[in-house]
Amino acid sequence: MRKKFVAGNWKMFTDRAGAKKLAEAVVAGLAGDNRVEVALCPPFTNLETVAAVLRGTPVALGAQNCHFENEGAFTGEISPLMLLDLGCSHVILGHSERRHKMGEGDALINKKVHAALAAGLKVILCLGETLEDRQGNQTGLVLKKQLEGSLAGLDEAKLERMVLAYEPVWAIGTGHNATPQQAQEAHAFLRGWIAQTHGKPAADALRIQYGGSVKADNAESLLKQPDVDGGLIGGASLKADQFLPIVRAGI
Ligand code: 13P
Repeated sequence: MRKKFVAGNWKMFTDRAGAKKLAEAVVAGLAGDNRVEVALCPPFTNLETVAAVLRGTPVALGAQNCHFENEGAFTGEISPLMLLDLGCSHVILGHSERRHKMGEGDALINKKVHAALAAGLKVILCLGETLEDRQGNQTGLVLKKQLEGSLAGLDEAKLERMVLAYEPVWAIGTGHNATPQQAQEAHAFLRGWIAQTHGKPAADALRIQYGGSVKADNAESLLKQPDVDGGLIGGASLKADQFLPIVRAGI
């Protein structure tokens, strides 16, 4: 049985005081319950603040991006080792906002995935199609291309420290979540591809989160799909009273 995993992607929101309060409220609300794995992913500037709150709790700390080198002349970048040093166990890579707004492609994402895993981080790798892709019946092709590109050169052992997050671009921040059936179909496709390339045991063990307008009132129907193993939550992760019911929907 795959343990459900719900992560909050705070994106470019929260100041230090707000981040501390939000993390404290999540920890208090969970009260040590670890039936669902939970991670919080604040912006870089609040990692240290949130790390202090999460220390000694079952809630993990994740970052939202990293560079593919551990150090060097890369002005403005943050390395995997720096994230580890701050107490991160996870990093989100390949988010659609980085793919589409910052121009990141699969080759770059693949380098980051290798670097993050080599440094000892766990990776939440995001992928998903645009509305145009879906309307043009290209969803399968796009997902396959993203899988091939971002996972190039990764063996089954490396895959054990990865989570996929299926985030259809048209559902992110729009209030239009994928239906449970659409999510299940895409997740089954992703798992099927992994079974072909990395074998059935690796595919069976891999957790695939759904992300895109997950809210307290739609979480349960999404999370009960057989191939939906949790959620990557944007907007609703910024308020503990919206995030906690989503976590509980995974129990
Ligand atoms: P929303 O939950 O705000 O739609 O964002 C989803 C997302 O991008 C999580 O990474």
